[in-house]
Amino acid sequence: MAKKNKKGQWGSSFGFLMATVGAAVGLGNLWGFPYKMGKGGGFIFLLVYLVLVFLVGIVMTLQELAIGRKSGKGVLYAYKSVDKRASAIGLFGWLSPLFIIGFYSMLGGYTIKYLAANLGDLLNTSWGINGMDSGEYFTAFYTNSYESAVYTVVFILLIVFIIAMGIRNGIEKFSSVATPALFIMLIIVIARAVTLPGAMDGVRFMLVPDWSLFTPKGIINVIASAGGQMFFSLSLGMGITVTYGSYVSKDDDLQESAVLIPIADTIAAVLAGFATIPAVFAAGLDPGQGPGMLFVTLQTVFASMGAAGPVFGLLFYFLVFIAAITSAVSVMETIVSTTMDITEHHLKHTSRLGVTIGCGLFALIEGVFVSMDGLGSHGFPQIFNQSTWLDTFDLLSEGTLMPIGALLASILFGWVYPGYLDDEISLGSRGGRVLRYFNFCIKWIVPPIMLMVLLGQISAFFGLKWFG
Ligand code: PFF
Repeated sequence: MAKKNKKGQWGSSFGFLMATVGAAVGLGNLWGFPYKMGKGGGFIFLLVYLVLVFLVGIVMTLQELAIGRKSGKGVLYAYKSVDKRASAIGLFGWLSPLFIIGFYSMLGGYTIKYLAANLGDLLNTSWGINGMDSGEYFTAFYTNSYESAVYTVVFILLIVFIIAMGIRNGIEKFSSVATPALFIMLIIVIARAVTLPGAMDGVRFMLVPDWSLFTPKGIINVIASAGGQMFFSLSLGMGITVTYGSYVSKDDDLQESAVLIPIADTIAAVLAGFATIPAVFAAGLDPGQGPGMLFVTLQTVFASMGAAGPVFGLLFYFLVFIAAITSAVSVMETIVSTTMDITEHHLKHTSRLGVTIGCGLFALIEGVFVSMDGLGSHGFPQIFNQSTWLDTFDLLSEGTLMPIGALLASILFGWVYPGYLDDEISLGSRGGRVLRYFNFCIKWIVPPIMLMVLLGQISAFFGLKWFG
């Protein structure tokens, strides 16, 4: 019997898959993909996205799962176990979730607020939205620092509770129910969205290919945009997949998981498009992306549905809440896992509960700070030319550390230590052709694409317009 990870192990392949798919399917799928696909070339965007999933997404997912399982460690020590110099990649993978957890929890808190508000409308109580304009309602909420901080705190306490319960009894149990529920709710919402009068304009917006993009510059733009989206959506370069991989049994087939996870994530992204964009067009609104799309545009759609509005609103924000919490749990577990390694290494002792509480307190401080910033509405001093602290933390993680870490990881396994992961990848599975495919892509395809993603991110964060 292979040695078990002391921190815990998944109870079943299904549980592992649900946890990992739940981690990947998050706010990025709901508010990023549909709009980018519609604006970025429709069907052409989808094709480019799929090609990138096969050449980069699957390969990177396999690499991260393999180094996680091979080392049995959280991200910092996983990369350190390859080469001391590679510790930087692990460090970036530990720091990124530390930056992300604050703002992602604030957004998770927003989803609880909207769940409560739609429930309030359904029950006809004073804490509903009560016909208020959706834009004004959202502004009143996020500029109220204390209220948004309270929801953030509630969200963080939920994550801490799930993580404190452990890998099998906490994360796996929760995800095994939540992730399938998410897909079922998506299908129900789609059935309503695409049958609304005028919905077909939205379907057309998403799918109609924009052939004018078939120029060298046009295609480069699509690759940069689709690559960035795929990278974020699969949570690559931030230790999540490494961490979840470290809890996989040596009998499991990593190759199968590395294909299923990106495919399920892509299906969820396309489904999210059909659940939201047609309804937005049916209500005669402009689709957008980010918090405005989720909390203003879609709330306006529900308001336009009359008595059925709060029912679909409740269902929809529950879906968004599930997407956010399974992802936030993975972000937090990545921090906890590495922090447990660090305490074990230096103190010769560690405790999941103690470390979870410590990391939870850190997340609380950060989450309350980002909430009090109220999306930049309270004149907090800002840095790096960003307008909100959400953007600043996002710039530090998604904008820089994550793509740099992933680029360095591909160089590590493509150029410095080629073949290092071969034994782990072929454990309990096929070798031969898969290994050749993996080693080819990680050497020749992933590094240039990751470089493009990095440049695309920097250009987007600083408004440099290098692409598009
Ligand atoms: N992949 C998830 C999403 O699409 O929302 C989770 C996630 C990715 C969280 C990247 C945070 C992050 F920076």
